[in-house]
Amino acid sequence: MDKTVKLHDKTFRLCIEAEEIDRAVRRVAREINREMANERPLFLSVLNGAFMFTSDLLKEITVEGTTVAFVRLASYAGLSPTGEVKELLGLTEGIAGRSVVIVEDIVDTGSSLAYLLKVLEGHRPRRVKIAALFYKPAALTRDITVDYAGIALENDFVVGRGLDYDGLGRNLPDLYTLVS
Ligand code: IMP
Ligand code: MG
Repeated sequence: MDKTVKLHDKTFRLCIEAEEIDRAVRRVAREINREMANERPLFLSVLNGAFMFTSDLLKEITVEGTTVAFVRLASYAGLSPTGEVKELLGLTEGIAGRSVVIVEDIVDTGSSLAYLLKVLEGHRPRRVKIAALFYKPAALTRDITVDYAGIALENDFVVGRGLDYDGLGRNLPDLYTLVS
């Protein structure tokens, strides 16, 4: 029988088991360890969703000079061309001259990342790379390349592994997809 969870009013079905996700995390870490070997990278984790991926990933990172910082993107409904105003909170770490690896739980439309990249550019980093545990190729509307990509997903709503439905489900080690 399919494993399901109920969160608020919705039912979700198991779609990717923890072991497969763990393998993807280790592969992403190996890529970063290889490419960032001499970069003393700053990992910039985008809260809340990326907390679990950040923890799992950083345990596998062996690069000398690795540091970690946490930021948060707040969205407000407002009168911008996109109908949404974003704000970056919590950036206290010096970015200038650093090789930055953005750590994201999931890239959906790419709009959050597009905003974050624009703000970071203003801080004159040496370079910026993107690591995302999940991405939905069919949902992407921005010109963004995920440099270190975990697992590609269908364009469906998912929870678990840090991702939530209205606050619930972040603690689930497996990934679940919305049924109804
Ligand atoms: P984007 O700006 O459309 O790429 O969306 C980015 C953010 O939306 C992610 O960092 C998540 O926090 C959230 N998000 C996107 N897709 C999902 C999903 O399927 N489940 C839960 N959260 C999601
Ligand atoms: Mg996120």
